[in-house]
Amino acid sequence: MTMNSVSSAMDQPAPDVPSDSMTSRDYYADSYAHFGIHEEMLKDNVRTGSYRAAILNNSHLFKGKTVLDVGCGTGILSMFAAKAGASLVVGVDMSNIIDQAQKIIEANGFKDTIVLVKGKLEEVQLPIAQFDIIISEWMGYFLLYESMLDTVLDARDRYLKPGGLIFPDNARLYIAAIEDQDYKEEKINFWDNVYGFDYSCIKDIALREPLVDTVELKAVVTDPCVIKHINLLTVKKEDLAFTAPFALTATRNDYIHAFLAWFDIFFECTHKKIQFSTGPHAPYTHWKQTVFYTPSTITINEGQKLVGNLSCAPNARNNRDLDISVSFKLNTEDEATKVDYKMCVILPYRCHDGPLCQMGIRR
Ligand SMILES: C[S@@+](CC[C@H](N)C(=O)[O-])C[C@H]1O[C@@H](n2cnc3c(N)ncnc32)[C@H](O)[C@@H]1O
Repeated sequence: MTMNSVSSAMDQPAPDVPSDSMTSRDYYADSYAHFGIHEEMLKDNVRTGSYRAAILNNSHLFKGKTVLDVGCGTGILSMFAAKAGASLVVGVDMSNIIDQAQKIIEANGFKDTIVLVKGKLEEVQLPIAQFDIIISEWMGYFLLYESMLDTVLDARDRYLKPGGLIFPDNARLYIAAIEDQDYKEEKINFWDNVYGFDYSCIKDIALREPLVDTVELKAVVTDPCVIKHINLLTVKKEDLAFTAPFALTATRNDYIHAFLAWFDIFFECTHKKIQFSTGPHAPYTHWKQTVFYTPSTITINEGQKLVGNLSCAPNARNNRDLDISVSFKLNTEDEATKVDYKMCVILPYRCHDGPLCQMGIRR
């Protein structure tokens, strides 16, 4: 299978086989059907704990309300909403994992409050026409990889009552620059000399593929800069293709080998604001951070600025992939360097620490 056929397989409805008879080929087409991906997400305590706090600490917002859970997976967010007092929760998922969600919901006594609907949100018939609240965990690497936000916006425009709430309701994407000599040597410059042979044709391809990785705070050489703010109540699908300027001020004399991106998530509608960060200063999450190597090393002095633009758009042939361009220069230079990156994950998303994984992950 090519990368694109794998990625587009993720758009397909669940294979028509019983969940307990699925083979590796079926899991390849429906990666979310495997419990391992859900295990990783559920065990990400920053992620799941933040949703739990946002929902359960705000039962006054949920009591007697109707809730739509977009991409319900194992049903965890639906059960938080039911526990918080929702009168009806509808969970939608196109993966076979929803068969397990049904059993989980019954085992936990929620079958009268939670209704599950199998299929693509964009195509299914829901039992009611309008909801008070939408809940969803849609975030991908670099926030927008996998483009599931489109599905949440579709749900908002078709099913959210005027004045309704979305959990979470705001997201911010950040960029900074890092010193990363040793790992750049290992991942990028490695291709210059492989057992004495010139493999440098691969070096350019490797450089253009952002790396999902955990980066230590001490590697960060500049202040961060917000490159995108998304308000889920008002954002339009077109806004998700964007160009943003940045100016990064060096906090010390050092060398720069890469840009680093991460995101923060906000539940602004909660009584006591809840948020979490996936940045290098924050506790580990399974999203880690995203590294974009620069073709050459940049020498920077404390107080000097690295300025530029970052453009991001869904790939024209596969809208789950992202085309990201970064152009940059020191504020003392005339000419900018531009690099085109392509974010495409070869095997199913979020399985990178599991046995199915072949992604280029550092640690
Ligand atoms: C990141 S997981 C979150 C699962 C669960 N809500 C949780 O928090 O553990 C996203 C889920 O959305 C589902 N999904 C993605 N796109 C969808 C769509 N267009 N319609 C229905 N389900 C979708 C996937 O199958 C997956 O189970």
